[in-house]
Amino acid sequence: MEQKKKKIVVFTGAGVSADSGIATFRDSDGLWVNYRIEDVCTPEALVRNRAQVVEFYNLRRRESLTKKPNDGHLAIASMEEWADVEVVTQNVDNLHEQAGSSRVTHLHGELMKLRSERNPDLIYDINGWEQKLDARAEDGALLRPHIVFFGESVPMFDTACKIVASADILIVVGTSLAVYPAASLVYYVRDRQVPIYLVDPGNPDTAMIRNPLYHIKERGAVGVPQLVAQLRDELTK
Ligand code: OAD
Repeated sequence: MEQKKKKIVVFTGAGVSADSGIATFRDSDGLWVNYRIEDVCTPEALVRNRAQVVEFYNLRRRESLTKKPNDGHLAIASMEEWADVEVVTQNVDNLHEQAGSSRVTHLHGELMKLRSERNPDLIYDINGWEQKLDARAEDGALLRPHIVFFGESVPMFDTACKIVASADILIVVGTSLAVYPAASLVYYVRDRQVPIYLVDPGNPDTAMIRNPLYHIKERGAVGVPQLVAQLRDELTK
């Protein structure tokens, strides 16, 4: 009789895309070193400083169009051959999807989408990189990047909590665990026995994690394939 596949949930942050050439936020070369969050990533900035906000995300979008998934994204997607895998990402790029991951939940929005400023359910794919400043949705409202700004609620958080609670194994890749509520997802595992594997060359804030924690101190393109090979050996024997 075939055994039920293990449920593996992968929770990712900017670090998983760092090896694809996309800057993280809080590292020494990170985006928040060169930009102020309050200038480009808050609802107030969109009102006061619309051109700068739109320009910031146009730049991110233009840059992301040239980026490809790295071995970390690909290894995560490959687990679908032998495990029941869901990805929850804080990233707004689409590199998990490009790598072949079929179930990806974006907590902080998606760069390749725009939405009505009035109706959050009017969401559009953007063709190419440029959001024109005066582009409007069909309800007549101006369009804005489909990004969760600081100070806004995180509509996919409840969905993400349920996904994490369904995990037999949680893998966390490339996140400083500094931004809430996203960072609190690691506490939504079903019980204290669920192992948490962390792949990150730095030191994310894991002080409060009480589950078995295995920190693989490598960059994503190296550490994730190693971990995936190890889990495949353990789970498919
Ligand atoms: P951070 O920039 O806060 O953290 C990046 C993490 O990636 C750090 O723990 C680094 O050690 C790690 N890292 C760096 N290089 C890496 C590599 N090559 N491989 C693997 N890991 C690497 O990014 P996030 O935790 O994702 O939100 O930030 C969370 C949120 O803050 C983002 O989603 C974004 C940001 O402001 C919004 O914009 C709403």
